[in-house]
Amino acid sequence: MTKLLVIDDEPSILETLGMFFEEKGLTVLTADTGTKGMDLFRKLRPQVVILDIRLPDANGLDLLATMVKENLPAKIIMITAFQDMETTIVAMKTGAFDYIHKPLDIDQVEQAVDRAARIIEIDRKTPSLTPCAEPAAPVEIIGKSEKMRHVFKMMGLVCGRQVNVLLQGATGTGKELTARVIHMNSASKEAPFIVFDCSSVVDTIIESELFGHEKGAFTGADQTTIGKIELAGAGTLFLDEISQLPLKIQGKLLGFLQRREFTRVGGTRVLKSSCRIVAASNQNLSELVEKGQFKQDLFYRLKVFTIHLPPLEERLSDIPFLVEHFLTKINRELGTTATKIQDGVMERLRRHTWKGNVRELENIIVQALVGCRGNVLLRDDIDRILDQHRTEPVQGLESFSLAHVEKQHIARTLSQLGWNKTRAARLLQITLPTLRSKIKRYHIRPNGN
Ligand SMILES: Nc1ncnc2c1ncn2[C@@H]1O[C@H](COP(=O)(O)OP(=O)(O)OP(=O)(O)O)[C@@H](O)[C@H]1O
Ligand SMILES: [Mg+2]
Repeated sequence: MTKLLVIDDEPSILETLGMFFEEKGLTVLTADTGTKGMDLFRKLRPQVVILDIRLPDANGLDLLATMVKENLPAKIIMITAFQDMETTIVAMKTGAFDYIHKPLDIDQVEQAVDRAARIIEIDRKTPSLTPCAEPAAPVEIIGKSEKMRHVFKMMGLVCGRQVNVLLQGATGTGKELTARVIHMNSASKEAPFIVFDCSSVVDTIIESELFGHEKGAFTGADQTTIGKIELAGAGTLFLDEISQLPLKIQGKLLGFLQRREFTRVGGTRVLKSSCRIVAASNQNLSELVEKGQFKQDLFYRLKVFTIHLPPLEERLSDIPFLVEHFLTKINRELGTTATKIQDGVMERLRRHTWKGNVRELENIIVQALVGCRGNVLLRDDIDRILDQHRTEPVQGLESFSLAHVEKQHIARTLSQLGWNKTRAARLLQITLPTLRSKIKRYHIRPNGN
């Protein structure tokens, strides 16, 4: 019979959960302090634990770490009123089985306990989870919405293990930020974090950029050069916009992922690297696979741990927290002092169509702070900035800027040529690398955003 231990200082929670699960046929033990809880845990070895984080005499996260260390097969479900990224990541990473927020939804708790009991049933010898409690990530991902909590959970699961991760999400949803935070929370955080943008360099040198080349490998290769994979060492290689990787290089990357071995361009020596690959794409890779534009085997390799970053529109409840975060951050960076927001601004922000997601929100706050004449962000100012963003391409003054006209022209050319970049570059009389960098800089997308 499954033994369940509930540790919480709220008598009503002990009582409710106790009655509920006893009725379902479990043996329930309860404790209202950390000390009593640990005592019961050690003596009676429950298979499932429901553990509160804020206890009168202890921090639930510390107890969690001890429990994981002492009795790995036990499934520990954290319940807490904390909703921040750090606690969720630390808890999941330390080895929590699940993380449920208060006020408790009994169905959710039941599901978690059932799932725990089922897994214990299936495999009594659960492999060990690495207990670790590293300091907080210096870079923060803001979000308290259900969708972001799920993202944090996934991050907590992957960051402690050197597995490859695929980040899928629209532009500005925080893919690069997520990659950094995964790296900073991993065991190899002291090792390098290397960014490689697959869309930023011309096809012919991508291979040597990634894998390096030997002296004399091609004209101009007058010395041996180390590629990004080697540079990343035991750290993380962030492959941004992986969909842009030419098919041939996709094959070579797949080979590396399968064997963890590679050769430099023009070389024969087999080199090894243990780096973690975090790949990002704002295009749906499975659709590209269907269209034959992305290698299926590579996609299958990469997608094992996929984290979907939700568009801002699907987590509007995060906007106030993001605004607060950006106010603090940008005030610090720009030396501005706006700390207040006029009533109605948040509602206005929630109604905006966020094509550029969090990046757009950040830009709007920057614009507002720069234009702000005091300590308060005014509704009128925000209205004006949002209207500009909404109507882009606009009739406003900015549409006369050279950059704007250039962006429009490039976008139109690309779309008329079915996104054939080589032809577009020829027509625009610029080189392919220049075109790529402009596409990147102006965030020109095939769908016209
Ligand atoms: N949840 C978040 N909390 C705090 N800042 C965020 C969050 N998401 C994104 N940002 C910020 O928004 C900006 C854009 O994020 P990032 O560059 O990671 O997006 P991206 O998904 O890589 O976009 P793109 O596909 O256009 O490259 C960054 O300044 C980042 O710090
Ligand atoms: Mg990015």
